This record gives sequence, structure tokens and C-alpha cells, in this order.
Amino acid sequence: MNRLAGRNAVVTGAASGIGWEIARLFHAEGADVTLIDFNAESVRKRAAELGERALAQPADVTDEDQLAAGIEAAVAAFGPVHIGVNSAGVGALAPIAELAASEWRRIVEVCLTGVFLSIKHEARHMSEGGSIVNIASLNARQPAEGFAAYCAAKAGVEMLTKVAAMELGARGVRVNALAPGLVDTPLSKAFTGSPLRREFVANIPLGRIGEPADVAAAALFLASAESSWVTGDTLVVDGGQHTKRYPELIKHFRRGERGRRR
Ligand SMILES: NC(=O)c1ccc[n+]([C@@H]2O[C@H](COP(=O)([O-])OP(=O)(O)OC[C@H]3O[C@@H](n4cnc5c(N)ncnc54)[C@H](O)[C@@H]3O)[C@@H](O)[C@H]2O)c1
Repeated sequence: MNRLAGRNAVVTGAASGIGWEIARLFHAEGADVTLIDFNAESVRKRAAELGERALAQPADVTDEDQLAAGIEAAVAAFGPVHIGVNSAGVGALAPIAELAASEWRRIVEVCLTGVFLSIKHEARHMSEGGSIVNIASLNARQPAEGFAAYCAAKAGVEMLTKVAAMELGARGVRVNALAPGLVDTPLSKAFTGSPLRREFVANIPLGRIGEPADVAAAALFLASAESSWVTGDTLVVDGGQHTKRYPELIKHFRRGERGRRR
């Protein structure tokens, strides 16, 4: 289990959910891992859990100076970056008519601008053989009512991934994305911890919600030399969810609100 021995990996959003599982797996596969997250306490705890070859860098991915400093700290500790995984993300449910512009900006800033800044600063420290993996979402392709900002930002990540692959290919740096379906993490609790869960599962051919480990395994493939001729692509990891219907989120939550008011 040493598929990433001697590799230096930077993972954003590494304090929780998918990012944490990727940091854990890459570390177990021999990589030096720098965990970046704006939750300072959690990210320090996670790095301490991994022990040697792990570094915590509290930083907000929307703040270019903080992010650049976090990645520079990774270089100072472990040398040039080989792998960048960009997993920091947020979401919020509201129909467009009720979505505050500030909320739209917050989601686009973290989910899209944060990935742009991460690619920019990771690539700066990468050379031949480098690999960047952006965590997009099935919602990059499958629209969900009430998720305008998230869907638009994730669709942006998919296109950003292609442009970055074109620009960095000449340097031997690959850039790909993952599009997970619904995965059990703190971010998706409103869905997985509600009656909506059943509706999601009914629309997943493999009959279960995803685990962070499902996404981490795909990230390992894209980060490792096994995918050395793959770039500019998005790999859907969703148990087949894209083949079926997306649950009606707004209807479900409105029903819940009416129930609570009664
Ligand atoms: N859980 C799902 O169902 C699902 C499905 C598809 C895609 N995704 C994507 O996967 C990624 C990880 O999500 P998750 O489900 O693991 O969520 P999570 O909430 O468990 O983890 C997200 C992490 O990102 C960090 N973060 C948020 N904003 C940040 C910022 N500005 N700067 C630095 N760190 C920040 C949080 O502190 C948290 O530790 C996200 O990009 C999300 O959109 C999740």
C-alpha cells in the first residue's frame, strides 16, 4: 500500500468528509500530506491523528494570501508539490427568487473561486508528473431546484478543470475532476438525515448513498501514475445516480416547513 510513496500532496477542505478521507488514504499510501481548511481546530486535530508526514495549515481558500502561504508551508516542509486535491466546498438551499446575492457570492467564492486559487498556487510548485484533482459534483451536470449557486459553481469547476488541463499539459501536469453523487458527510446531513434519504436511494441504481471512501478511491486513481494519460476529464462517482431522477428538494423542504408550522 505505497502507491504515493515520496509524493507531496496538498488537500483543501481536509478537516471533514471527503477531503479528510482523501488526506487519510493518501497518507496511508505513503504521501506527505498538507491539510488545508478554515476550521483551524479540526484541521490541527486531523493532522495530529495522522502523525508524521502530515502538516495542518488553517487557511480560507477564498483568501489568496492565506492559501498561498498554506501551500508554501507545504513546500517548505515536504518539497515541490506533486498532488493537489481541491475539496473545500459549501452549499445552501434556496430558490433563486429567495437567494440573497451575498449567499450566491459566498457559495461561488468557495466552490469555484477557491478551486481557481488552489489550482493557481498548487501548479506554481508542480512539475512533470503533477496531478490536480478538483472535487466538483454530480450537480455540475444534474440540476437541482434550490441549488442554483452550487450547481452553477460546480459546472464552472468542470470547465475550469478542462482549461487548466490545456494550460498545464505542456508542463506534464494533469488536471481532472470528480463528480460525486450524494455522499454521507456533514455537508449532506440535511438530505441524508431526513426522509429525502429514501428518495435519493431509490434513484441510485447501486442502492446506497456513497461513502467518502468511494470518492477517495477514485481520487487515488486520478492522483497516481495509474491515470498518467488522463487529463481534462471528470469522473462521475455516484452509484449510477446520474441515470435516474434527482429528488425534488424544494417540494420536500417546503412540506417539512408546513408540517412544523402546524
Ligand atoms: N457530500 C456530498 O454529498 C457531496 C456530493 C458531491 C460533491 N461534494 C463536494 O465534496 C467536497 C467536500 O464536501 P464534504 O461533503 O466532504 O463536506 P464537509 O462539510 O464534510 O467538508 C468540507 C470542508 O471544507 C471546509 N471549508 C469550507 N469552506 C472553506 C473555505 N472557505 N476555506 C477552507 N476550507 C473550507 C470545511 O471546513 C470542511 O472541513 C465539496 O466541494 C462538496 O461540494 C459533496
